[in-house]
Amino acid sequence: MTGSRAEPKAGGLRLGIDGAVATVTLARPERRNAMTPAVWHGLAEIGSGLPPQVRVVVVRGEGPSFCAGIDLSLLAGAAGGSRGVAPQGEHDGNEPIPRPDDQDFVQKIASYQAGYLWLRNPAIVSVAAVQGHAIGAGFQLALACDLRILTEDAKLCMKEPALGLVPDLTGTKPLVDIVGLPRAIEICLTARTVTAAEALLLRLAELVVPAGELDSAVADLVAALLATDAGTARATKALLQHAAGHSLAEQAAEERRVQAELLGGRMRGNGASPSAGPGSP
Ligand code: ACO
Repeated sequence: MTGSRAEPKAGGLRLGIDGAVATVTLARPERRNAMTPAVWHGLAEIGSGLPPQVRVVVVRGEGPSFCAGIDLSLLAGAAGGSRGVAPQGEHDGNEPIPRPDDQDFVQKIASYQAGYLWLRNPAIVSVAAVQGHAIGAGFQLALACDLRILTEDAKLCMKEPALGLVPDLTGTKPLVDIVGLPRAIEICLTARTVTAAEALLLRLAELVVPAGELDSAVADLVAALLATDAGTARATKALLQHAAGHSLAEQAAEERRVQAELLGGRMRGNGASPSAGPGSP
């Protein structure tokens, strides 16, 4: 992207902001972008510090794989109850994952999940650009995004159950929402690989493109997303996000409320987005 500056962040992340587009890059290709607590904290920090002009966030991985999931050195010994070791540190801020008997075990996981949850904020549209493998925590990162573009060689795998873990980085709900409960059970409990072709059929990918066309496909989608008025885009995303939890009558009422607020605000010369209503992420 012209004019963008990519700032290094903790955990081997990079953040580039070019006007309304932020690009978050997992940048530890020599480990296939394996994730550590520093990555999850870094993602959360990016989410909480995103400038208000950003409307689209692209999440990508450097090198042959989008993301190989948790850094496996963190799990060393964890299943037996002893604390995992911190990964060999190329990066500042590495920490071991907590033990289940640590007092703050649940809070720690919540802090990791914060690195994923902001990608659903109605103020932005998030796009995962996935090449090669997206495994475990990496698959969940792709699922945390609103939209996914995959290359033909992409492979998705929810590996956690095969390692004696449940997926706990916010991926289970979007997976069930997208593929349905029976398929989600099958994908998770077999920990099998879903190819890009199958991902398209299962609606886990909006688009599958040849490997050399990922950047241009992402650029085209970003341009199309930005062509819609910012306030309208935010209001529409929030409206759509609430649809699943509403009856038809409730959602119809929500459409009327949001439309009145959007157009009324515009008439008054107020560019602010309509309130997203209860339950907004
Ligand atoms: N954690 C730590 N290091 C990793 C990880 C990982 N998750 N994945 C890859 N690496 C390292 C490899 O050890 C290797 O290091 P080396 O060069 O020092 O030997 C380097 O990255 C390259 O990996 P290769 O396996 O050589 O790369 P390849 O492209 O052939 O395969 C693949 C990529 C398929 C991702 C493979 O590395 C793999 O299966 N990784 C483990 C995936 C996994 O089980 N993740 C945990 C999921 S569960 C969860 O996320 C909670």
